[in-house]
Amino acid sequence: MKTSYSSLLLASLSLASLLPNLANAQKAPKKAQPDLAAGKPISQDLFGIFFEDINYAADGGLYAELVQNRSFEYTPNDNTAWQPLTAWEFLREGYSFGNMSVETAAPVNPSNPHYVTLHVENEMQKGLGLKNSGFDGIPVKAGDQYNFSVQARVKGGKSVPLLVQLRDKEGGVLATASLPVQASTWQPYRVTLTPTGTDAAGSLVVLATGKGTVDLDLISLFPQKTFKNRANGMRADLAQAIADLQPKFVRFPGGCLAHGDGLENMYRWKNTIGPLEQRVEQRNIWNYHQTAGLGYFEYFQFCEDIGAKPLPVVPAAVSCQNSGGTWRIGGTGQQSITMAEMPEYVQEVLDLIEYANGPATSTWGAKRAAAGHPESFHLEYVGVGNEDKQTPEFRERFKLIYDAVKQKHPEVTVIGTVGPSPKGDDFDQGWTFANQLAVPMVDEHYYESPEWFLKNNRRYDSYDRKKSTVYLGEYASRGNTLFNALSEAAYMTSLERNGDVVRLASYAPLLAKEGHTQWNPDLIYFNNSTVCPTVNYYVQQLFSRNQGSEYFGGVLTASDSAVVSSCVRDANSGDVILKLVNAGATAQPVRVDLSRFKRLRPTAELITLSGPRDAKNTFASPQTVVPKTAPFKASGSFAYTTAPYSLTVIRVKGSDAKPRKEVSRGSTASGGSAGR
Ligand code: AHR
Repeated sequence: MKTSYSSLLLASLSLASLLPNLANAQKAPKKAQPDLAAGKPISQDLFGIFFEDINYAADGGLYAELVQNRSFEYTPNDNTAWQPLTAWEFLREGYSFGNMSVETAAPVNPSNPHYVTLHVENEMQKGLGLKNSGFDGIPVKAGDQYNFSVQARVKGGKSVPLLVQLRDKEGGVLATASLPVQASTWQPYRVTLTPTGTDAAGSLVVLATGKGTVDLDLISLFPQKTFKNRANGMRADLAQAIADLQPKFVRFPGGCLAHGDGLENMYRWKNTIGPLEQRVEQRNIWNYHQTAGLGYFEYFQFCEDIGAKPLPVVPAAVSCQNSGGTWRIGGTGQQSITMAEMPEYVQEVLDLIEYANGPATSTWGAKRAAAGHPESFHLEYVGVGNEDKQTPEFRERFKLIYDAVKQKHPEVTVIGTVGPSPKGDDFDQGWTFANQLAVPMVDEHYYESPEWFLKNNRRYDSYDRKKSTVYLGEYASRGNTLFNALSEAAYMTSLERNGDVVRLASYAPLLAKEGHTQWNPDLIYFNNSTVCPTVNYYVQQLFSRNQGSEYFGGVLTASDSAVVSSCVRDANSGDVILKLVNAGATAQPVRVDLSRFKRLRPTAELITLSGPRDAKNTFASPQTVVPKTAPFKASGSFAYTTAPYSLTVIRVKGSDAKPRKEVSRGSTASGGSAGR
């Protein structure tokens, strides 16, 4: 994986030298520029998010489960220091006698082979059992309710009482409940706990207090207050921060996590649905463990809950080219599903579409309905492959999947893949291949310096509109300072300008847990108690919440090339939205001419994001740079001065609401020439 970055090579270059084309376009409008055409349609799904279980984004993060290693499935394969009792501690309290062991005979489900056996030799008030310290402690709040559940059975026919407790970090009891385990077959047992105190790093204790033998598995604790109160749901504050972005789509489950670093941990969606004990846990490519508790059903449900379209990415039946533990650009570690197994794999992809959209009477639609969602999830996009090396093995498999989806589900847009960089062999070969197959959209990825983003503002202006459209699936400017965020904002104005060919875009990665971060920068940092959105987050939010359906050139004129701007209109509200990015150190005037928009109100909203160039939001100071909103008067032609290092959004209210005008999606590709 790419985990380290070189320093910013171009830091000493002036902004003017980084923005030659832009300067030309704004100073010399005589030469026809593509952005001067009025009312160019923009994809209605342009700004979305990229979710991957990297940096403890899912387990220990968005997935609200508070118990770590609840199924005793951690292994040294996940992480050489881990084993089935990682995150658990054996407790023998009072004068209890007995022992604990990890067993595999007759498990709760073959997918979930390990469980714990507690063998108690004497009747004790306290007992022996286990303590779980969660992911950096279990945070509990006084008065909140927590749902405890466990799969359990007794051996020898004798019922065994369990004592379940929430404790604070000093061991003080905050909540307590008893559960008699009576059945000799695996059964779920549940109880609600309400702690009397608050602790950011508490623990869960489960003790067997009676003589006998009891088996335990899937020991789980969820806050009752999950996002939208969903069972097996999402952490409310983190999910809300994501929802507040108002993304138009959610890509999941990765990234590299989707194709895995070997066939053994390729993400297979069918392993992630159904009752939790049936889901197949596996090694996370980022060197930890995936419970699959946040699986395909939960992803789809979450998308629906936040009003975003789902965008699953399935493996193209090949693993990461860097499989085998080495990071080699152009590596040959790619592994592939055998051609003999491909018909089954192709069917797996078709079944995913049926799972999402098929009637509740269909085989896979019935499984969705059984999970509580008989209605369709309205899947429109499927990504096939992630940054895969363009080998003959990849191409052969991609084509099989693509042809099958196209034939059976022409209503679904397949998104192809063109490597991990904005240029190079995989990029060129990926584009050639996509054009040959007329793939409607391809997924570009790049992590570059802020200077790169400023300099490449015109990248998509010259893309051939007759070829595949673009999903900019992963991008970031290698840092979380205001300057980084502004370079991304400047680039996003170019995505709006090219919103006819760039159909979707998502910053990556989305989430990172403090102390468990494999990849920097990220959009939202968090720990167990705090969510810290970066400045980059606010840029994404301002663009997503102020997306338009049409782009207008020639509305804004700046005399300095440090200023980059866009003007869009939202056909639904009639609002005209101006975005002005000043990535330079001095205030700059901009001329705004709204005269072409006939039915605007003079009332506008002014939102600014500004500060010192290197300002960042941190856990110690999470509000260093946040948007500020004020009323504004805007009409006709006026001058506005952009502050140094700032993003300004001016939303002028419209009164000419019209139905949204939308360009038709994808499939304008024509075969033929290499790359773009
Ligand atoms: O976003 C982090 C990683 O970057 C993704 O997993 C991968 O697709 C890319 O290389």
